[in-house]
Parts: sequence; C-alpha cells; structure tokens
Amino acid sequence: MNSLKILDNDSITAVKLLPRIIELTAQERRMIQDAAAHLQRKYGSYENRDFITHVHQLASYFLPERILHIAADFASDFSIHQYGALVFKGLMDIDQESIGNTPPNWQSADYSKFNIYGFACALIHGALPSKPVQYYSQRKGGGLMHAIIPDEKMRETQTGSGSSTDLYVHTEDAFLKHQADFLSFMYIRNEEQVPSTLYSIRSHGAIGENFRPLFERMYKIPKDANLETGMEEEEKLDAVLYGNYELPFMRFDAAEQLFNPSIKQTDDAHSHLTEFWEEARDLIYSGFTPQAGDVILVNNHLCAHGRSAFRAGVRNIDGVEHECQRRIMLRMMSKVSLMEMRAHTLTEDPFFVIEEHLGKNFENI
Ligand SMILES: [Fe+2]
Repeated sequence: MNSLKILDNDSITAVKLLPRIIELTAQERRMIQDAAAHLQRKYGSYENRDFITHVHQLASYFLPERILHIAADFASDFSIHQYGALVFKGLMDIDQESIGNTPPNWQSADYSKFNIYGFACALIHGALPSKPVQYYSQRKGGGLMHAIIPDEKMRETQTGSGSSTDLYVHTEDAFLKHQADFLSFMYIRNEEQVPSTLYSIRSHGAIGENFRPLFERMYKIPKDANLETGMEEEEKLDAVLYGNYELPFMRFDAAEQLFNPSIKQTDDAHSHLTEFWEEARDLIYSGFTPQAGDVILVNNHLCAHGRSAFRAGVRNIDGVEHECQRRIMLRMMSKVSLMEMRAHTLTEDPFFVIEEHLGKNFENI
C-alpha cells in the first residue's frame, strides 16, 4: 500500500495514502499509440457515437492486459486501501511540434490536434468500464473532452482557466446528483511544472462518529464559480458524505461549501464542515508533478482534485525564470450507467447530461 504515516505526539493519527503510480513500459505505450491511431483512421473522431458505444469492447481488444486489470480493479474497489486516483506515467508520447503554441484560452483551441489523445483517454474510461459523457453545466456540453488552458483574463478565478490562486480541492460538479463517476486528466504539456493536488476521503481511514453529521442532508452545495447560483437553489441541501458509513463517498468542494462568501451554511453545518476541513487539509497530496503524456484517472466519489497557484507561461529553473509554453490538460468525464441518470439527459442523446443543480434540470436547452 502506498502511504505516509502522519505522526502526532509519537502516535499515528491518520495515514496519508498516496495515489498509485503506474509507469507504462515502452511496449505498452506503443500498443496504446497504435490503437489510438488505428481507431482514429476507422472512426475519424473520438466523438463518433459508434466508437463511444463500442468503447468497452475496443478497450478490451486494444489495451495492454496489465492496464485492463488495473482499470477493472480500480473501478470496483472502494476499500480502505483505495485512494481513488491512479497515475499512468507515460501513457502516450505527445507530439509537441504538432500541438504548436498553446492557444490563449480553451475557446480558441483547435481540437483536431487533440483527436488522437481523445481516443486514448476514452479507451481508459472504457476499460473501467465507464462511458464518456458531456455535461451541459460545463461549457454547455462542449464535447466529450475539454481542453483546460490557463486564460489571462480568468487567472484569479476558481475555475480550470484560473492560475494565480490555489484551486481548492473539489470533487467535480459536487452540485450535481449525477456528477461524473470518473475523470481523466491527460497532460499535453506542463512546462511550468505545476504539481497536481489530490485529496482522498480514504486518507482519513475509516470514518468515525465525529463525522457522522456529514451524512445528513443539511449542507448547501452551491454551483461552482463557472455558474450563477439562483436564490432558490441556495436553499437546496444535501449530504457531503454518502454511501457506506465507514468507507463513504464524498461530494465536497472546499471553495464553494466553506469559503464562498455569498453562501451561508447554518451554524451547525458550518461547524461540521470546518471540523472536517481541519483534518482534510493536512491530507492533501501535492507530491506529483505531471509530465506531458501522463494521465491521472480519478474516482470522483473517492478523491477530490485541485491545483496550486502558478504563473502561466513561466518556468523556474534553479531560481531563474524562463518563458515557456502555457500548460494544456485534457479532461474527460464518464458515467458507469446511462440508465441511472436518464431523467437528466437529453431525450435524443443519453450521453448529454442536462442536470443543473441537485436533481433539477436546465430548461430550454
Ligand atoms: Fe475540477
């Protein structure tokens, strides 16, 4: 088991788990590259519905056996040892030249350059098995994969486009009942060498009585900084922990649930959240700095993600600042079951999620 023991007065108070890191062999990487290239020739785009519909069979056929086993174990292991994130080091070779300069923001990204990487990411989700989906609450859908690029105009925000402030750890779309089950982050470039931040609910160990109130539906779960929250939505309440009492899942967004000045939790809710955060913040892991071609795969019910503040386009080498290409990351989200969330998907497209806030759908899409 990957873990760090945290000592407090010579006794172990919590075990800080670490995500499992899997280094791909050159042969495994070659298999995935070849599969992605082949599938691109056959299907054209990773958005092709025939590809996505068959992604589980294609993953079984094309992915290296070791990766298939790791993915399957990851998808159904909610045990005390399961961190909820895997790091695949060197999953793909990234052709930096063909990517060219980083565009100013995600809106101006040329997705044809990321097409082959979309196939590779979809296969990883397919192996779990889980199906890539898109969320109207994120970029009005915007396709099955999103480029996350620091945007100068958004640098202060708590969004993927921000950079100059820490992005607090959060589970993705904590404000949805049908949030993604799994997320993948593929790093196209990270020349600034920004460490990724992960926080697993399992790092607390088995959850004791002191956190039992977090299972109660008494917390405001506001939408994130990308979206406006209406007055009536502020009143909707839900639980932060759910599932198994000892080894729960979580719906947690520190920035929105605890530090959003326009959201007022009740005194009770606030004090439970604060107590939880006091313990959680010491369990955040920032020890891994992704390189181009690495993929972080996250179980969005077990593990939250974030990032430290950084200066986009600046790389510090031995105290000297050098200009560099700004970071590009590709995010894909997936759901294990299309049926379970059918009340929240488009009539004509069960892969398109239209939930707006805790069970309520967007209207007039
Ligand atoms: Fe996020």
